Amino acid sequence: MHPNLSYQLQQFFGTTAVEQITQDPKMVSFLKDVEVTYEEKDQDQSMIALLLQERLNSEQALKKEKEEQGGLIRKLEEAHSQLLQSEKMASIGSLAAGVAHEINNPIGYVASNIRSLGAYLDDLFQLIDSGLTELSQTKPGSNTAALASKLDLPFLKGDTHALLSECIEGIDRVKRIVQDLKDFSHVDHGEWIVANLEKGLDSTLNIVTNEVKYKATIVKKYGGIPEISCIGSQLNQVFMNLLINAAHAITERGEITLETGQQGGEVFVRVSDNGCGISPENQKRIFDPFFTTKPVGKGTGLGLSLSYGIVKRHRGRIEVQSTVGQGSSFTVWLPMHHEEQASDKTEPQAAAH
Ligand SMILES: Nc1ncnc2c1ncn2[C@@H]1O[C@H](COP(=O)(O)OP(=O)(O)O)[C@@H](O)[C@H]1O
Ligand SMILES: [Mg+2]
Repeated sequence: MHPNLSYQLQQFFGTTAVEQITQDPKMVSFLKDVEVTYEEKDQDQSMIALLLQERLNSEQALKKEKEEQGGLIRKLEEAHSQLLQSEKMASIGSLAAGVAHEINNPIGYVASNIRSLGAYLDDLFQLIDSGLTELSQTKPGSNTAALASKLDLPFLKGDTHALLSECIEGIDRVKRIVQDLKDFSHVDHGEWIVANLEKGLDSTLNIVTNEVKYKATIVKKYGGIPEISCIGSQLNQVFMNLLINAAHAITERGEITLETGQQGGEVFVRVSDNGCGISPENQKRIFDPFFTTKPVGKGTGLGLSLSYGIVKRHRGRIEVQSTVGQGSSFTVWLPMHHEEQASDKTEPQAAAH
């Protein structure tokens, strides 16, 4: 007999009555029918449990799929924003290269003309000097002699030289900036070149000098690292972002240390500052695209995520050490030799176009 039926009968009639009932042939056939109903109900119940279990399983599968899709969407967004940023940097790079090229020509002839002008003025002053000496012998007290002393000829001579050498110095500075702009943009749009990272660091520093010089004293501790194969313009972008971040971290006046060195098969470039530092919670998020603690207009939150992508493309890594109130140190580690250079060569080009 179905256990539930027997339990209910016993509850209702008591054990002895049940024994009598179950011996009555009429009751037996009735109980058989009831039992069939009980069994059908049992089957329904197990069917429902099965269906429920199936539904639960498919819900869990859906949830997992949704999580995976969320992860994929995040990765896509990240890749998209990095692409946007590298497109932007590529256009800034080619703009800088174009401007540098255009400036180069006029600067070239201004510099050469100033040098010629200097030489001509030397000749002219020589002529004036000799004319005045002659005049003082043949016609003492002439108007020309009076004019010469009124105009303070020795001062004019000295100052003309000083002005010209200042002009030459200024033009040399412009030339250096133009050269740095060219080095910085490299006009290579993501090509692999063998480059000196210390030079790259220097030319990047010159580019951002205005952002940095009022905030910090720069201390250089270069270890004379060997040249490595890299995408020069992209690594310069990494250095630029680290330098600007370091300057932003300093409120009044501080110090930014640039250090390079080599260890094992790797070289490193370290940018350290004694600025505000990064809290442990924020340290987990600084490489996320769009994570910024800066006001609108000052930070996009893309610098470090872009840098992370670039360094990863070089099979390198970025290490961060930071203490709130004491400062931060970002170290870019890069392998000196690339094993898979052939495949490396194609990848960044795909990213740049
Ligand atoms: N040297 C640093 N000192 C303190 N905080 C930093 C430093 N570098 C990065 N950060 C933090 O990481 C965040 C993300 O940096 P980044 O990706 O370059 O974006 P952004 O500079 O546009 O904010 C910054 O907003 C800042 O909070
Ligand atoms: Mg930044």
